[in-house]
Amino acid sequence: MKNQLEWGIIGLGVMGTALARNLARNGVSLALYNQFVKGKEERIAARRCQEHTELSNSLAFENIKEFVTALRPKRKIIVMVPAGAAVDAVLTDLVKLLSPGDMIIDGGNSHFENTQSRYRDLKKQGISFLGIGVSGGETGALKGPAMMVGGNPSDFESVRAILEKIVAKNKNSTPCLGYFGTGGAGHFVKTIHNGIEYGEMQLLAEVYAWMRQQDASPWHLFAEWQHTDSQSYLLGVSADLMNYKSKNDLLIEAIEDVTQHKGTGVWSAISAAELGFPATIMTAALQARFSSAQKAIREKMAKTLSKSIQQSKVPDADTIKKAYDLARWVNHLQGFSILEYAKKQYEWTFSLATAARSWTAGCIIQSELMYQCEELLEKYPNLLETKAFSKQFNVNLKALSKLLQWGMSTQVPLPAFSATWQYLMGITEARSTGNFIQAQRDYFGAHGLTWTQDESHRGAHGPWHKSSKQ
Ligand code: 6PG
Repeated sequence: MKNQLEWGIIGLGVMGTALARNLARNGVSLALYNQFVKGKEERIAARRCQEHTELSNSLAFENIKEFVTALRPKRKIIVMVPAGAAVDAVLTDLVKLLSPGDMIIDGGNSHFENTQSRYRDLKKQGISFLGIGVSGGETGALKGPAMMVGGNPSDFESVRAILEKIVAKNKNSTPCLGYFGTGGAGHFVKTIHNGIEYGEMQLLAEVYAWMRQQDASPWHLFAEWQHTDSQSYLLGVSADLMNYKSKNDLLIEAIEDVTQHKGTGVWSAISAAELGFPATIMTAALQARFSSAQKAIREKMAKTLSKSIQQSKVPDADTIKKAYDLARWVNHLQGFSILEYAKKQYEWTFSLATAARSWTAGCIIQSELMYQCEELLEKYPNLLETKAFSKQFNVNLKALSKLLQWGMSTQVPLPAFSATWQYLMGITEARSTGNFIQAQRDYFGAHGLTWTQDESHRGAHGPWHKSSKQ
């Protein structure tokens, strides 16, 4: 079949296959291509067409030229291969075969700066390029993911109708599809989605840390909370994990306690740092993953350094839930603040409510709270200045303090909850210790400071070396 098929997909791994099935179910005719690697990847696309009824009318290819030829001009090709070198390798092969007006969509978890430069390079050759963050794992990709789009607005418009069909619809029947700006904007927003995801996962892990310290571990709490305002997809996942048992224990107790990661959590923390925003929770969550990876040293130190555990009042379930609700609020607030900083830095004009809306269903961080964030961000530029946040702060801070006091006495690490506390204390401190750091910088490096009585004169110096010895 020549020049007939509407869309092409490159890369028939888990996500590529699920997305292909979703598109086919929505009436899009497909050409499917997977590379041929002798003994490792053979007849992958053909096998997918046999395995899934939705793909029975799709055409499978192992020759990229034939794959491209099968597509209708103004081709639309989604690349679903691992981020990094694999994307570049595909683009190099593909571009030689394409014509001006064709479009490539990178639906992987690419670094936004890579997307930015690929967008620029391809534009010079007349090839349109959309970088789309796709969230929701295999089930999302199959039944309706959330999509975060970056690229030329008219290119987005040309595929919008189809994307709206395949993404998740939230409870207001709105498609979870957001357009965020040119270049790497979509992949940037996906990276911050993942930073929030890391924070949410770590907070739940720390609640589990509290649960497993209790005599009769209250594993049922996750399921109970799922029926409250704390509802979220990840809370649901956590509740379900508690249903799996092995003999008398939870099945999760049989899992090695070393967390892996694929990179987006690192990028979110780096992006926040580069933008100068204190994203304490996602950074703490990332570092907790790194600490978990120090297994050999952890086991050795646990034997050699004895902890002196003190008696402490155990916070009750209600206290833990309050602390959890407050920390989640701060985690979301931090994520949206990074987006606000990024908008200014990269001159993107999307609204934060659009990001919240595209995260209300389909994605890993979908939750009741996300709907609340969407509503608030429609009216207020910053969640920090909303009454809802003041209420969280005023009502739940004490609970967070109790949880942390328990963690300190019983010597249970609570990095994400601690990071919440540090952030809250920092942003409510009218006079910080920044003056002291400025004095030190000026003392040893003549870096300059500003006297509070003369703020217009920046870069003044203290009298340090005249009046004191080094
Ligand atoms: C999603 C997820 C997904 C991510 C995995 C694993 O939105 O569907 O964010 O894109 O790759 O959650 O991430 P880590 O391996 O870094 O935990």
